[in-house]
Amino acid sequence: MRKKIVAANWKMNLLQSDALSFLKTLRSHDLSKFPQLDVVIFPSSIFLEKMINEYVGKLGIGAQNFYFEERGAYTGEISLDQLKSINCSYVLIGHSERRTYFSESPELILNKLKAAVNKQFNSVLCIGESISVRNSANHLSFLEDQLNDSIGMLEENDIKSISIAYEPIWAIGTGLTASVEQVNEVHNFIRSFLVDRFPNLGNDVRILYGGSCNEQNAKELFSCLNVDGGLIGGASLDSDKFYQIIQAANEVSRIEY
Ligand code: 13P
Repeated sequence: MRKKIVAANWKMNLLQSDALSFLKTLRSHDLSKFPQLDVVIFPSSIFLEKMINEYVGKLGIGAQNFYFEERGAYTGEISLDQLKSINCSYVLIGHSERRTYFSESPELILNKLKAAVNKQFNSVLCIGESISVRNSANHLSFLEDQLNDSIGMLEENDIKSISIAYEPIWAIGTGLTASVEQVNEVHNFIRSFLVDRFPNLGNDVRILYGGSCNEQNAKELFSCLNVDGGLIGGASLDSDKFYQIIQAANEVSRIEY
């Protein structure tokens, strides 16, 4: 059975004091009582080291961004070795905001994915279609292209450390959560792609949903067969809401399929 993941993408939000008080609340809930879940936070990079050192216990802390080259003249960038040197073990790759606002190309995303695999990071690879692609009913072929350009270029063994987050762009930050039918259609499609391409390990890759997922809809979404957790934006900025989402994942992770 795949272990569920609840991940927070804080994007460019929260100050250091907010981040630390969030951790304090989470620590008071004692996440070790959820051994069947992985909980991960992707804060702004400047808080990574402090958060990693502050939180003793079961919580993954990851970087929202990095550059794939090992070192050198890349002003403003952070390497995977630098992240490793502060014990950071997760990275986010291919988020639509980075594809759109920072022009991250499929080639760059593939380079980042390969570098993260080589350096043994746990990667969350994001894919998702825009509203115009969705309205033209071409979303599955669009998503297939995004998968072919990224995880599809890897060897089977490489996928062990990768999770995929399906984040329809039209659902991000809009309050328009994808319906259970829409989520099932895409997640089942991603699963078939994975199993087809990687017959031995494709079933083990976790597929998260992201896009206006919150404490009210998490349980229903996480109950879907191929939804192995969530990547949460807005609702992850509030520690109480985020904890409710963790509880929702815990409730459904007891269900045996
Ligand atoms: P929201 O939960 O705010 O829609 O954001 C989702 C997201 O982009 C997570 O990476």
